[in-house]
Amino acid sequence: MITLNINGKESRVDAEPDTPLLWVLRDTLQLTGTKFGCGMALCGACTVHMNGEPVRSCSTPVSAAAGKKIVSIEGVGRSRVGKAVQHAWQRLDVVQCGYCQSGQIMSAVALLENNRKPTDADIDGAMGGNVCRCATYVRIRAAIHEAAKSLA
Ligand code: FES
Ligand code: FES
Repeated sequence: MITLNINGKESRVDAEPDTPLLWVLRDTLQLTGTKFGCGMALCGACTVHMNGEPVRSCSTPVSAAAGKKIVSIEGVGRSRVGKAVQHAWQRLDVVQCGYCQSGQIMSAVALLENNRKPTDADIDGAMGGNVCRCATYVRIRAAIHEAAKSLA
């Protein structure tokens, strides 16, 4: 049994230590907002926060998450920055098919938690590992600037 702290709630899960955190979130805990894309830490669809840092849950063994604070897309809107990012995403109608967007939002929130005034270059650097097949990159960048403004 492994004890996880997900979105502020403790859960005990019966999983092999090397099971990817993504499968525990989706299959065991039914937190299906976090998506599977590549399974190889290449696309960012599965991004969650571990102690505030964005990590690829497809490539993070669940054992590495024990004793850490995990936040997924289901819980990110509880923080001030998370709320601001979600509102900006809605205002600018960022989403197209939506598949990549949980991961995009998690990376954007992690960026703004550390940098309240990101430049375009800061945004490109922080978001470069999040791939969007629908190419919503221009709106993502605009929404991050919009969220930053609302947090000022
Ligand atoms: S599914 Fe994890 S990075 Fe693509
Ligand atoms: S919105 Fe479709 S993959 Fe990004």
